[in-house]
Amino acid sequence: MSQFRYVKNKLYVEGLSASYIIKNNKTPFYLYSQRQIENNFQNFKKNFKSINPLICFATKANTNHFVLKLLGNLGAGADVVSGGELLKSIKSGIKPNKIVFSGVGKTADEIQLAIKKNILLINIESESEARLINQIAKKLNKNVSVGFRINPNVDAKTHKKISTGKAENKFGISIKEFLNIYKNKAAFNNLKIDALSVHIGSQILSDIPYQKTLNILTSIILKNNINLKYVDLGGGFGINYQNNQKEINLSRYSKLVKNFQKKINCKIIFEPGRFILGNAGVLVNKVQYIKKGTKKTFVILDAGMNDFMRPALYDAYHDIIPLIKNNKKHSGLIEFVGPICETTCKFNQFKNFQKIAEGDYMAIKDVGAYGSSLSSNYNTKPLIAEIIVKNKTYKVIRKKQDLLKLIKA
Ligand code: LLP
Repeated sequence: MSQFRYVKNKLYVEGLSASYIIKNNKTPFYLYSQRQIENNFQNFKKNFKSINPLICFATKANTNHFVLKLLGNLGAGADVVSGGELLKSIKSGIKPNKIVFSGVGKTADEIQLAIKKNILLINIESESEARLINQIAKKLNKNVSVGFRINPNVDAKTHKKISTGKAENKFGISIKEFLNIYKNKAAFNNLKIDALSVHIGSQILSDIPYQKTLNILTSIILKNNINLKYVDLGGGFGINYQNNQKEINLSRYSKLVKNFQKKINCKIIFEPGRFILGNAGVLVNKVQYIKKGTKKTFVILDAGMNDFMRPALYDAYHDIIPLIKNNKKHSGLIEFVGPICETTCKFNQFKNFQKIAEGDYMAIKDVGAYGSSLSSNYNTKPLIAEIIVKNKTYKVIRKKQDLLKLIKA
């Protein structure tokens, strides 16, 4: 059940109305439900219960300290892609032995940091990276636990800008290249090849691409007699952004993974991001102006593409709902746009939306993942606040950035 729902025409987050929160907090701000995050995590865990995986939250989806701490307390590890995410995860209380590090361009400093912190796995994405990690490990006199991220050349059937598992994508290494390295592993004697990893894309709604990937991994592992401690199956679990979409069927996927695990007999790691946070946050904003165009009415919000990039970057669909519902209809097309000086600074358009007045408040839905973490200071706008609700209370978990500090740099 969603923790965002209407009670007597007012939008509630758990037991608190969003209208109450705007009394003391200036819009725009991100507004999360703690219970929704907890439920999503437990739901994910329950679906894969028979596999007993390590669930490493993909911190790039939401890097707020409070959120990371909350997930860490629920037993999550972290999937990180930078030294910053690594340090933030550790600072939030996530143990290094539950952290995996992916990314095609890890720097020597980041590798050194990961080795010194003794994280669970560095997932390697090229032969050059393997050589650099081996070199740094040798210098530090350490044996480092690594995984190789395979590019299985599988089409995840998702938006092309968030597809990562095809040969034309920069991610991972080809099977052939991996097998060459594996045969020659004596040359990398400070690396322990403990894992294979994959991540074929994001917002995946069908289990077919996952099935294809599992088949490929099974064949590589069994044919070549590869002995592994872990297989990291990445993230990508799609959610329902629009009424006609269905989220990924985790219980079906779980059966496929169970089957896989029986054959290869190792610990499974998952890296979900969106599935845990996506529907746990809304972006609350105010209608600044209403401008009648000749083709449509522009509703200009106080939140912009700098605060929330997904529609501008991927033409992503996000529903927009009022904080207070009325029964009147607006005639004609309305488009919700932001203040940033870019044509793509727009969020969605609707026919038959309810009547809107300047000063009304709106919420952009399902922005908990890749919302705040993708935001920027474009147009010299401060990063906005983040607020979380638990039952009937709320807490500011990131203050709005200070404009005077921002303009100094
Ligand atoms: N693991 C790796 C190695 C990844 O690169 C990603 C996401 C994940 C896990 C988590 O994927 P998820 O479960 O959240 O789908 N900004 C885009 C999404 C980019 C995802 C990048 N990698 C968006 O807003 O749709």
